[in-house]
Amino acid sequence: MEEQGFFYRDTWAEVDLDYIKENVKAIKANLPEEVDFIAVVKANAYGHGDSQTAEAALEAGASMLAVAFMDEALALRKKGVTAPVLVLGASRPEDVNIAAEEGVILTVFQEEWLAKAREVLKGDASISLHIKIDTGMGRIGIRSAEELKSIEKSIREDSRLELHGVYTHFATADELDETYFKEQLSLFKELLGTLDELPPCVHSSNSAAALMHTDAQFNAVRVGIAMYGLTPSLEIEPELPVRLNEAFTLHSRLVHVKKLEKGQKVSYGATYEAAEDIWVGTLPIGYADGWIRRLQGQEVLINGKRSPIIGRICMDQCMVRLPEEVPVGTIATLIGEQGEEMISINEIAKRLETINYEVPCIISSRVPRIYKQQGKIVDLNNSLL
Ligand SMILES: Cc1ncc(COP(=O)(O)O)c(C=O)c1O
Repeated sequence: MEEQGFFYRDTWAEVDLDYIKENVKAIKANLPEEVDFIAVVKANAYGHGDSQTAEAALEAGASMLAVAFMDEALALRKKGVTAPVLVLGASRPEDVNIAAEEGVILTVFQEEWLAKAREVLKGDASISLHIKIDTGMGRIGIRSAEELKSIEKSIREDSRLELHGVYTHFATADELDETYFKEQLSLFKELLGTLDELPPCVHSSNSAAALMHTDAQFNAVRVGIAMYGLTPSLEIEPELPVRLNEAFTLHSRLVHVKKLEKGQKVSYGATYEAAEDIWVGTLPIGYADGWIRRLQGQEVLINGKRSPIIGRICMDQCMVRLPEEVPVGTIATLIGEQGEEMISINEIAKRLETINYEVPCIISSRVPRIYKQQGKIVDLNNSLL
């Protein structure tokens, strides 16, 4: 931990890039060789750090990246990432020129959007597009063969536009009941059949489908959560064909340690009262870091032992009941392993009554991300630091 001198607080997240690479390789090994791996690095790579994760995934065999918004694509370009990037969400037609300049692939699903994009696209600038089909997610996408054919025609008649891909997104790939998944897949195949020609990149699978449904791999898969070492859902966890390792861990150091006497209280509202004399430590992490008030009662690991958070979590700090007196500066692991104990992202998600996806995403940008490779902390010029 001595290498962490490049930020000035005692709370940080560690992202193990070797785990990301191993996860990508393991998932890829489970796919036919010709199926491309699109690494989904939206939302700052689910909180892991966009360019660092992107580079690790590319090194491990991903051939394309996907983000939600144009700004995320441009952030990758600014950080020197040159690989193909697909924007999965809606972008504004006026922004086609910047997409063309930066070689960013856009998603199209509206004729009006396409007409406007063609109108504003300057000179002989050219752009690659993927058509999004809504087969039952009900979010964005074309919903009929007529619309699909018409958009295909408009793209193909403009030599500045390349129809590079077509895709859909499953709503229930992470469930054991395959009924709705199969309906979506069959509609996708039916609509693909109405295209004059299939574009080079046809894709439908998120992590769950990529791992569980060999019938939906087409020629690329879009993998997010599994690349980070997290299971797409608890339901399919026992069925997963690959072993995944969680890349994200969260740590802090005790900045104050004191003995509280029986009857003394802790934090706002003075809701916690010591039932006996206890040792209490203060951690410099709070709800502004994404360690939200609902995590009161959650345990952290100190010297390999579980220590509960007592009293209300403040904006920047929280207090833990210590198993014994420990020195100021002792590391507390909020997510990750210490000795025999592990606090998984799933454990935090369960306490928050949410899904594991949400947990690293809500750890705010105030928490520096540091990167581990071959067991060592590496400086990758993280812009968050
Ligand atoms: C369109 C699209 N494709 C792929 C993914 C990746 O999904 P997962 O993280 O479950 O692999 C997402 C994530 O939400 C998505 O919205």
